[in-house]
Amino acid sequence: MWKKNQYLPVGGRRLTNTGALSPFLLWEHSSFYATMEDKEEKGASDVNPYRLLQKYYPPCTPLYRLLLTHGLMVARKALQVADRWPLLALDRRFIYEAAILHDIGIFLTNAPSLGCYGTKPYICHGYLGREILEREGYPRHALVAERHVGVGITREEIIQRQLPLPPRDMVPQSWEEKIIAYADKFFSKGEEHLTREKTLAEIEADLGRIGPEKVAIFRNWHRELQGQQ
Ligand SMILES: [Fe+2]
Repeated sequence: MWKKNQYLPVGGRRLTNTGALSPFLLWEHSSFYATMEDKEEKGASDVNPYRLLQKYYPPCTPLYRLLLTHGLMVARKALQVADRWPLLALDRRFIYEAAILHDIGIFLTNAPSLGCYGTKPYICHGYLGREILEREGYPRHALVAERHVGVGITREEIIQRQLPLPPRDMVPQSWEEKIIAYADKFFSKGEEHLTREKTLAEIEADLGRIGPEKVAIFRNWHRELQGQQ
């Protein structure tokens, strides 16, 4: 059965220090775009993830800065993982964009500790993000948003535990979807892990609160994506 304290956004601490993006992150993301241009990957997609985020999150707000910082951290981690597997020829630009946009649905949820005052439970932010991104015309990015919550949620689980979600499989399928969901588990939108990676033990403790099967899935991802035990 779904418990309201599962799939929460953060450890419960109110955010206080989201006044500005770190200069390092800003430098890094501008240099990332420069790299894209070099490789002529820029223009492969017409998504401007910043503009899209700003359509739903006024850029002067702490929530926007929080979401962008989180997205950039997840993007960086996901690209580090992707770069371990050159033979898979992963779509780096897509990974970057989708990582920035994966949590676009949070403003529709009720998560006051983040500054979100919507009506839906936080667990809904994945499929709500999908709806937004599909409406905007980005169905591939939309699937990342829907499938990144936890280590994915199955239709069976939604029905059995009566989760407040549409009854369909929300499990990462493509390598890009899996890598972004994996990278997301290393960070939260709370102060402690906004820019500092969680340890594997901390991630497993978080997932263990949902169920031991979630820990097992994460361990498999870790073995698969990092090539480690
Ligand atoms: Fe996230």
